[in-house]
Amino acid sequence: MMLTRALVALVSSLIFVAVPAQATPPQASTPPMGFNNWNAFGCDVNAALIKETADLFVSSGLKNAGYRYVNIDDCWSLRERGADGRLVPDPAKFPDGIKGVADYVHGKGLKLGIYGDAGTKTCAGYPGSLGREELDAQTWADWGVDYLKYDNCNNQSDGSQEDYVRRYTAMRQAIDRTGRAIVYSICEWGTSQPWTWAKGVGQLWRTTGDISDDWPSVRSIIRQNAPLAAYAGPGHWNDPDMLEVGNGGMTATEYRTHMSMWAMMAAPLIIGTDLRAASAETLAILSDRDVIAIDQDRLGVQGRVVSDQNGLMVLDKPLADGDRAIALYNSTDALATVSVATRATGLRGAGSYRLTDVWTGGATQVRSTISAGVPAHGTVVYRVRPLRDPATVPPAVAVGGELGTVVSGGGGELATAVTNRGVGTIRDLAVAARVPEGWTATPTTGHRRARLATDATLETTWTIAVPAGTPAGSYPIDVSAAYRWGPQGRSATTAGQIVAVVVTAPEDGRRHLSTIAPVTSVNGTGPVETDQSNGGPLENDGSLITIGGKVHTRGLGTTTGSELRYYLGGRCSRLITDVGVDDEAAGGPATFTVYADDTATTSGPITSGTTLTADLTGAAWLRLVVASTAAGVHADWATPVLTCGGVPDDSPVLPESRTLFSFESGTEDFTIANPGDGGAVAQSPLFHTDGANGLKVSTPVAGNWFGKALAAPLDLTGATALKFDLKAGDVGTVGEIAVQVGDASSWCQGGLWGWTNAGSSRTVTERFDQLGCPAGVTLDPSRIRGVWVFLNTGGEVHIDDIRAE
Ligand code: GLA
Repeated sequence: MMLTRALVALVSSLIFVAVPAQATPPQASTPPMGFNNWNAFGCDVNAALIKETADLFVSSGLKNAGYRYVNIDDCWSLRERGADGRLVPDPAKFPDGIKGVADYVHGKGLKLGIYGDAGTKTCAGYPGSLGREELDAQTWADWGVDYLKYDNCNNQSDGSQEDYVRRYTAMRQAIDRTGRAIVYSICEWGTSQPWTWAKGVGQLWRTTGDISDDWPSVRSIIRQNAPLAAYAGPGHWNDPDMLEVGNGGMTATEYRTHMSMWAMMAAPLIIGTDLRAASAETLAILSDRDVIAIDQDRLGVQGRVVSDQNGLMVLDKPLADGDRAIALYNSTDALATVSVATRATGLRGAGSYRLTDVWTGGATQVRSTISAGVPAHGTVVYRVRPLRDPATVPPAVAVGGELGTVVSGGGGELATAVTNRGVGTIRDLAVAARVPEGWTATPTTGHRRARLATDATLETTWTIAVPAGTPAGSYPIDVSAAYRWGPQGRSATTAGQIVAVVVTAPEDGRRHLSTIAPVTSVNGTGPVETDQSNGGPLENDGSLITIGGKVHTRGLGTTTGSELRYYLGGRCSRLITDVGVDDEAAGGPATFTVYADDTATTSGPITSGTTLTADLTGAAWLRLVVASTAAGVHADWATPVLTCGGVPDDSPVLPESRTLFSFESGTEDFTIANPGDGGAVAQSPLFHTDGANGLKVSTPVAGNWFGKALAAPLDLTGATALKFDLKAGDVGTVGEIAVQVGDASSWCQGGLWGWTNAGSSRTVTERFDQLGCPAGVTLDPSRIRGVWVFLNTGGEVHIDDIRAE
């Protein structure tokens, strides 16, 4: 009845399985380049889109830039196979079948890709190919398909690597038997470490979960894929997933980093945006010849990580003509100078080197250190070669800077550093800092230098003054260095942008501290987690905070060695919080200390939980610090509440939330939407985040909707989101939340949240403005007629406290 999706989670086993050597056709000798509809269109795929995209490949120059494959993702077939057992293209979406589209695409000198799944159903619930490999491969070959993306949903797997090898090799063999050259893209999300076995099976394999159009996703995928360089090579590539360039969720700097790092990692370049609506900037990023040349270099080596420290990474990729591509990647939120000694790279020894910035084309020279001030989330990529005569090439000058927090109505201290990395002295150096209107920047040390020799640095400090009333946020400060170089004294300028973070005190009221962004946040293991425990090194990998069996839906999950700083500006009076070692990794002891400026309120070393109340009167800064004699203790700040602006201690804690279903008096008439699909609900005390009970949901493998149609409409005016707490079954969980606003068919739904951490728990949030409604339906929060949750996995899932916030 509704779009559903099933992602069955798997625990990967580490058993190594020997794979018989396969005769792989010499395909994908460089990483495949093309388009796939999933990132921009999801299930909304059809022949017109594919044909128009093929047309655009030709007219926009993307074909000339190297893009070849136009790929169809999930949802192209009917829900049932034909009488002959074959997959049937949905005639409404593909009136001339897949063959018709393939012919069209081939007619443009391009190639066509399709999507299948090594399970009983695809992720969106269409027929899968498990056990039907021969027939399906032959069907695709008959249609003229050139590329297969083969997914991993509903895989019926025991999770062992052996099973992965078996399922994915079965399709490899089926493709081989068709005799057609089909590029085989293995998409099992890195679950069974395919880089250790899939060479010779597929030409590429996904190394991570699905990408999304946001910076944390790209940053996390780079972190996972970069260390796998040794496994990639011609015909066997690591696939960090398709491009999001142009989809709107990132800045141009971030999209250029996405493209740069994919090129450095010799990743497949599969465009994932709507080319019919792509901006000139998007097309320029996607079709940059010099960046593509690095990706497509025929040596086929994935760039090696030379250094990776404090969020700054350097990659080194050898190229066929002897040059090397060197990437300076800054994943941090501030301008940073990223540097690498030429001798730490594969460059041969030389007196100087020529650097060509692949994005700007600009050339500079260095003596022995490649270095640049790289903006937050930015990447500089140089093509580098030894240089015999540096005299005619401008020296590389790196402009860096650091600025602490700036208080609105106050100021801060800026430190700039300008370094000459080129051969030869630069002269008449003058550094300037341009600040937003109304601000001032005054140098307190020298900002001019007559001569700056190779590898010498001019450091300058500046006092920055910010007018009162400046709103909190990020503001650019442009630092530039002007100088002369070479015998003719030619003038040049190098610039860098520093982001000034202006802070203001919290608004009046009592608030969950986890809804206020800290000014700085340092943690022992991975990032500090919001409203969940620390989990592991990745973002968002914890569970609901649990101390001595008590579950908290609000709080901060840290580990030993953490410090969070909040600016209070003297406006707050009290912090009250539970603290303790999380049940997920008992241990300790840990010492929790709240600092109001320098005044400490501490728990002392504890292994269980306690409550701290700290007087913050007059304090400018609040700091939460966890220390321990043991490393890696999972230490929670549970339900911390901050009072500011002198409001009474019994005023409501913001943001306010209203419980709709708490399952204290039974199942509250929760039922199953599609009885034929199976599943059951029952009240259960095993997991609850309020009261003493929650709801146990026994889910069918393919999933079902669980919930309630409301006789009288519910008025949720003022709320912006629905939330509930969930504990996953033993094989993970996936789902959506739907709200019914009118009659039984006007469902607004959204989500597709899912994770694979068996037995973990979390709060699921669906904002009303992110729910998609059927055509003609507008979500009216004052008339909610039903609340439904989609759950699958075939296991038992517990939910509790469905609420509006
Ligand atoms: C999985 C894949 C995605 C996409 C969807 C389609 O999540 O990893 O890339 O193909 O399925 O349902």
